Amino acid sequence: MLDPIHLFKERHGSLRYFFAPMAGISDTVFRLLMRELGAQCVVSELLSAEGLIRGGQRTRDMMSFDERERPVGIQIFGHQIQSLADAAKIVEAAGADFVDINFGCPVKKVVCDGGGAAWMKDPLKLAKLLETVKKGLRIPLTIKVRTGWDDSSKNVKEVVQIAANSGVSWVAIHGRTRAQGYSGYADWELIRETAIHSPIPIIGNGDIVTAELAKKRIDEGYAHAVMIGRGALKNPWIFREILGEKIEAKNFLPLIQRHFDLAIEKKDRHRAFLSLKKFLAWYAAGFPNSGKFRFELFQLEDIDQLRKHATDYFSQLPELQKIDDGQPFLMGGHG
Ligand SMILES: Cc1cc2nc3c(=O)[nH]c(=O)nc-3n(C[C@H](O)[C@H](O)[C@H](O)COP(=O)(O)O)c2cc1C
Repeated sequence: MLDPIHLFKERHGSLRYFFAPMAGISDTVFRLLMRELGAQCVVSELLSAEGLIRGGQRTRDMMSFDERERPVGIQIFGHQIQSLADAAKIVEAAGADFVDINFGCPVKKVVCDGGGAAWMKDPLKLAKLLETVKKGLRIPLTIKVRTGWDDSSKNVKEVVQIAANSGVSWVAIHGRTRAQGYSGYADWELIRETAIHSPIPIIGNGDIVTAELAKKRIDEGYAHAVMIGRGALKNPWIFREILGEKIEAKNFLPLIQRHFDLAIEKKDRHRAFLSLKKFLAWYAAGFPNSGKFRFELFQLEDIDQLRKHATDYFSQLPELQKIDDGQPFLMGGHG
């Protein structure tokens, strides 16, 4: 078994189980919920370096986090070395535990500008970026990458070496190339080969949907730690299960009530309403009559109606098993 990540050991213990950055999902509310449900470390959705520098209110809001989230990282993306270095300092000044740079985003608009996964096509420039960012930073710098740009350029091992030489603290690897998008399966063999030879910890990521699989990836030496994204939306108790808790009844009602409470605490009522609608649609997936529930959800006008609708629906369900229909789920994103 590979050693766990010791970076935060004195303050937080050894980290193994990370909740993934996901745009539109990993905001302060859902990160808090995931921390309460056992995730050991959380990372924000990607934030534009240029947006942070311009000081736009929306980007600043997206950077906010809660003390209870710690350890929490803020992820930034961009295409210019100086902008990313300046943005990293803004993140540090905001008090985050670490800065993460996104080298995995496959979205056309981002890569056409030279951001996200496009950095992997130019390892020399990437090295210069990391050295520049690292020079001005006191908190740890981490990165999230893919296995390469496409099948003919799987250069993740080289990128990890560059990261280690530049003083990066760890690398999270989503085991697909940029060209793959979200199709096929994450290449865990390549993650394992990379982890075994890596001088710094590797967080493996991609397609972990059960607690058993998460533990197996670590026990069998595929990575020092694992990061879970979509699997935690399908099964929000996945981190607790990994940590050995036996969840007898996966009752969504108390979880949803907690999600409402946190959203109302952290957001204005309209934003909380819009965000909760999205999550409720995911929570309902696989339950009886979820289509009708979802349809009605989008006819509602405010958060009080939403809470009542959700309570009525989910209070009938505690003893029912959610059916995983195996359908592709959230097959697009920014990393
Ligand atoms: C809706 C969505 C949004 C995402 N946004 C981000 C992001 O902002 N930054 C990032 O590094 N990765 C992002 N990702 C990628 C995830 O962090 C993760 O690498 C990917 O989903 C594979 O892991 P999983 O199979 O556990 O979900 C996103 C993925 C999805 C589905």
